[in-house]
Amino acid sequence: MGKLAITGGTPVRRKPFTSWPIFDREDSRALQEVLASRNWGGYPFPNQHADRFAQSFARLHGAKYGLAVANGTIAIEVALKAAGISPGDEVIVPAYTWEGTIGPILRLNAVPVFVDIDPDTYCLEARLTEAAVTARTRALLPVHLGMCFADLDALRRTAKKHQLMIIEDCAHAHGGRWRGKGAGATGDLGCFSFQSSKLMTAGEGGAVVTSNLEYHERAQSYTNCGRASATDRYRNRLIGFNYRMTEFQAALLEGQLRRLPEQAKTRQENMELFENRIRGAHGLATLKHDRRNTQVAAYQYVFKYLPDQLGGVPRSAFLGALEMEGIPCDGLFYEPVYKSALFPLDPRDFPALSWAREQAIDFRDVRCPVSERAAYQEAVWLPHHIFLGTQRDTQDIVTAVGKVLEHIE
Ligand SMILES: Cc1ncc(COP(=O)(O)O)c(C=O)c1O
Repeated sequence: MGKLAITGGTPVRRKPFTSWPIFDREDSRALQEVLASRNWGGYPFPNQHADRFAQSFARLHGAKYGLAVANGTIAIEVALKAAGISPGDEVIVPAYTWEGTIGPILRLNAVPVFVDIDPDTYCLEARLTEAAVTARTRALLPVHLGMCFADLDALRRTAKKHQLMIIEDCAHAHGGRWRGKGAGATGDLGCFSFQSSKLMTAGEGGAVVTSNLEYHERAQSYTNCGRASATDRYRNRLIGFNYRMTEFQAALLEGQLRRLPEQAKTRQENMELFENRIRGAHGLATLKHDRRNTQVAAYQYVFKYLPDQLGGVPRSAFLGALEMEGIPCDGLFYEPVYKSALFPLDPRDFPALSWAREQAIDFRDVRCPVSERAAYQEAVWLPHHIFLGTQRDTQDIVTAVGKVLEHIE
């Protein structure tokens, strides 16, 4: 196959892949319309585009109610608040995720409890989750990471047994389904991000879906400066903030939602092609497809690089070479949050970490070996948009991976 590009050879690919995000004239028209309307913000709440989008988005996922918010981190905070998470409550989270899953827990002065991931899916491990439940646990916050769902059946059993809430972080799972039910609709609440890299984006944005009116009402009040919700059946009165989505964001997201099914189909076909070609390659392993995950929503194609099978050559060398062959890729996409440089936690800022404990919780003591192996040695992340092109584009990815493996020494 010739010399590797990283050692001066010709790269497999020079042509860029499909650009992301994708937009068309309809989006320009929608944005112009919002502009001309002079009705740009999230107030009056819920505003027209934001409300229409949120309801369609919830419907797609099989939830009764949807709420559009400013971004995905806020969506998680809103969902935790709507679920009644209070200072000192423990919330079980996977260690391997974006810091934005954890920050909102701390912001409510609740306590994140890190649990390791399942090596087959890189999502929250169900048995370890059950073992981590204490008298203070109030919620499970699984993340449907990369291209897999957390085992919602097992998590639901744990939640039922201990009377816990389930809040699904679906930042990677737009349009995904578990046993036919949309992401976010199996748990009590689901949270989505529309940040630039996501499967649907308005640059920034978020959504909270639920089928429980009380949670939906509380979420609305919290997002809209504490004002009464549209239905106000439960008469929640709480301190809220301005977490509203703008009409520009919502107008863009209506277009993104329209395109999602077709993009999902193309992406899925190309990812399957890719997976069929790399399956069984010496030194690589694929994640497990759970048949209960009836619609895959792959934010990134994630697979394993196994340095032990490849003479100890580190993942960084594989990725450097792959990138030079013209394939965008990442390894240290996430760190176990407790080890991340973006998590310089000072327990004095979060008093609940010390409540009823001799010493404040020190997350530097946490060890989640599967998360650490995935983050620092093993995981390879390929962005979703490179699978939105033709089969030939996908074949280039296959060829580049094969070429690097062939020259791995
Ligand atoms: C798993 C996960 N959770 C939460 C978030 C937070 O979303 P946002 O960046 O929109 O605040 C993101 C996205 O960045 C994410 O990937």
